[in-house]
Amino acid sequence: MALTAYDLSGRTAFVTGAASGIGRASAVLLAEAGATVHCADRDADGLDGTAALIEDAGGKPRTHVLDVTDRARLGEAVRSCGRLDVLAAIAGIMHSSPVLETRDEDLDQVLDVNFKGVLHACQEAARLMLAHRTRGSIVTMASGAVDTGGAGLLCYGAAKAAVVQLTKTLATEVGPHGIRVNAVAPGWIRTHMTDRHDREAQVHTEAAMTRMTPLGRVGEPDDVAHAVLYLASDASAFMTGQILRPNGGVAMPW
Ligand SMILES: NC(=O)c1ccc[n+]([C@@H]2O[C@H](COP(=O)([O-])OP(=O)(O)OC[C@H]3O[C@@H](n4cnc5c(N)ncnc54)[C@H](O)[C@@H]3O)[C@@H](O)[C@H]2O)c1
Repeated sequence: MALTAYDLSGRTAFVTGAASGIGRASAVLLAEAGATVHCADRDADGLDGTAALIEDAGGKPRTHVLDVTDRARLGEAVRSCGRLDVLAAIAGIMHSSPVLETRDEDLDQVLDVNFKGVLHACQEAARLMLAHRTRGSIVTMASGAVDTGGAGLLCYGAAKAAVVQLTKTLATEVGPHGIRVNAVAPGWIRTHMTDRHDREAQVHTEAAMTRMTPLGRVGEPDDVAHAVLYLASDASAFMTGQILRPNGGVAMPW
């Protein structure tokens, strides 16, 4: 009985950022829970890898090679689902620069991918859910950066804070139609993004995060995927407009 709440059999999910890291782990877990998963990303090879993992788990994935900043292509891909039960808008990029050295083009690029890419996916998904009267679930990807801030995080943190506002606003607007909208705000998760950050910044942030985290480790993509599955499924039927924080306890906001 308890586990049926997590069963996504017969449901369709659209996952952006599905070629790597948290997006890949989420796409695979949603498929393992029974959903037909549409995987979208600009990395075609990575998408093939995710599709193979889903097929190995007995699923039948669809893949969409696209850039989330291409609004028309993104809309077309979401609408190709026909009926949509779950959106997980996970694609994102990292950017780090001191405020005084931040250029407008850096800010524009990060907002385009990390905020507008999520906004446009949410708009398309919500329109489809409303059209089909689907009591769907939309999951957005914020970040622990919205709780803690941090040097260099102006562009990234501003985009993620905007994602939180989008989540709360949309949750209020579509709640009366039975559509739920929640955000996940992970702590430091070991993925290509954080590996690249440590290499480029030439500091071992992962080691510092491990020391600062009460659970004594950084996160793995599956830690976040389980939060995505919870929010995508009926297990979270009374949750909307919330931020779920798989972060090992590194931040504990009220
Ligand atoms: N790793 C962490 O510590 C961490 C913490 C908090 C939040 N997040 C967020 O989780 C999400 C996933 O990050 P990750 O750590 O798995 O990184 P990742 O680099 O492993 O995966 C990001 C994916 O997004 C895709 N992507 C990037 N820009 C795109 C675009 N314009 N169009 C289509 N696809 C695009 C990439 O190709 C990649 O497959 C991001 O939104 C990130 O901000 C990550």
